[in-house]
Amino acid sequence: MKIGFIGLGIMGSRMAGNLQKRGHSLIVHNRTREKAEPLLSHGAIWADSPAEAAAQAEIIFTMLAPTHAVAEAALGKEGFLPGFEPGRLWVDCSTVDPSFSREMAEAARAHGIRFLGAPVTGSRSQAALATLVFWVGGAAEDLESCRPLLECMGNRVAHVGGPGMGAALKIVINQLLGTGMAAFAEGLVLGESLGLSRSVLMGALLGGPAVAPFLTFKRERIETGNYGPADFPLRWLQKDLHLAALSAYDSGAAMPLTNVAKEIYQLAIQEGHADDDFSAIYDYLARNAGAKRPLSEPVEQPA
Ligand SMILES: NC(=O)c1ccc[n+]([C@@H]2O[C@H](COP(=O)([O-])OP(=O)(O)OC[C@H]3O[C@@H](n4cnc5c(N)ncnc54)[C@H](OP(=O)(O)O)[C@@H]3O)[C@@H](O)[C@H]2O)c1
Repeated sequence: MKIGFIGLGIMGSRMAGNLQKRGHSLIVHNRTREKAEPLLSHGAIWADSPAEAAAQAEIIFTMLAPTHAVAEAALGKEGFLPGFEPGRLWVDCSTVDPSFSREMAEAARAHGIRFLGAPVTGSRSQAALATLVFWVGGAAEDLESCRPLLECMGNRVAHVGGPGMGAALKIVINQLLGTGMAAFAEGLVLGESLGLSRSVLMGALLGGPAVAPFLTFKRERIETGNYGPADFPLRWLQKDLHLAALSAYDSGAAMPLTNVAKEIYQLAIQEGHADDDFSAIYDYLARNAGAKRPLSEPVEQPA
């Protein structure tokens, strides 16, 4: 099957690579062509625009951010929807808000194209190892028609519901990632201000009931202060908190914690952390919210 893949960033490049490793022919497009080179050197065909990709592909995957880049790829001046043969399938794996995903489903339908919103859980290494989880919103028969392709890129494919429902679940997950990361960072700052060493805090908290399991994988970054290259860029985590806030506005849910966390990430972006891994929120808070007057010098404590 000829697969069009648009968006070859951290995630898309690795997902497309796994389709290629499993023997699929790729037609690829990315705003920055050089990111396509590894795929091109293994036989992928370059398309100068999304429209050019659609002219040759039997199915199209998109993996883009921010949200308007998805709309532009589909419906912009050189967008793929108008030239894509009716009856074909578009699978959008980008993290977008549910109402946008439903809008894209409707735009696709107007062009006779089938649509699935299939955002993923997992980051750089899960994308590389093909262990992503797909949260799919759309028609069950459309999912079944592309399930083998999703299984080249992930090890779990969940049908969440109709259009927009995969996006809804993904937004909830990232709302928890964003607030959980910020809360943990603030907890570290508090503990350190009280004289607890970072290693005691990490040893006591990580793997315990008070913090989320994903934080264990952020330990090394926080301990070394090495936040690049990002697994998940802080700017996209802030984007997802914004999408959660927008979605909550639509649904009437109040999101006080999410909105405060979103603004903390915005402040970190303004301080230069946009392209860092989102765990750099610790660095931002430690610099700006850390105690100016430690209660005591840190003392050696048993782990
Ligand atoms: N990284 C993660 O851990 C993770 C996990 C799950 C889901 N996601 C989601 O996956 C999607 C891609 O994220 P990523 O982590 O792969 O980020 P990334 O490396 O920054 O990739 C972003 C992609 O969007 C393209 N893009 C950005 N602005 C554009 C514009 N104005 N017009 C056209 N294309 C544009 C980029 O093109 P260039 O290469 O030219 O910049 C690149 O292909 C996002 O929706 C993100 O929320 C990420």
